[in-house]
Amino acid sequence: MRTRVAVMHGVNLDMLERRPPEVYGDLSLSKLERQISQYAHELGLEARYFQSNFEGEFVEELHRAADYADGLVLNPGAWTHYAWALRDAVEIAGLPAVEVHLSDVDRREEWRRTSVLADLVVARVAGEGVEGYRTALERLKEAM
Ligand code: DQA
Repeated sequence: MRTRVAVMHGVNLDMLERRPPEVYGDLSLSKLERQISQYAHELGLEARYFQSNFEGEFVEELHRAADYADGLVLNPGAWTHYAWALRDAVEIAGLPAVEVHLSDVDRREEWRRTSVLADLVVARVAGEGVEGYRTALERLKEAM
């Protein structure tokens, strides 16, 4: 059974506690990851985490992901909306992937409506806050 999930956070997700609480809630990345681990445990999955503010590092981690994971949960932050190299790296990874955002990207600024990952991912989850990661893990589990 495939149970290994790489949860990858991109640019500025390490700064959650300094971002607008009305958008991102009362959260830090470590709190978020603890909650994701709880969800993963309940679903019989194992989560491993990666965060970077450097696009090239994020891409290189995607190149390695198939060595240790069966699926991807990706919140690339603002890269989601313009970083096409990320889209290609997700394709190279060749793993089922779910895109997740804490905020409802489709109801914010126009530029947040584009997702470079849209044609590759098995699901996109947005606007559910921390709970969205449970939804993302559930959707990924079905696809792994
Ligand atoms: C985000 C949404 C992005 O538009 C934004 O740039 C982020 C966080 C979210 O989780 O809601 O950094 O991915």
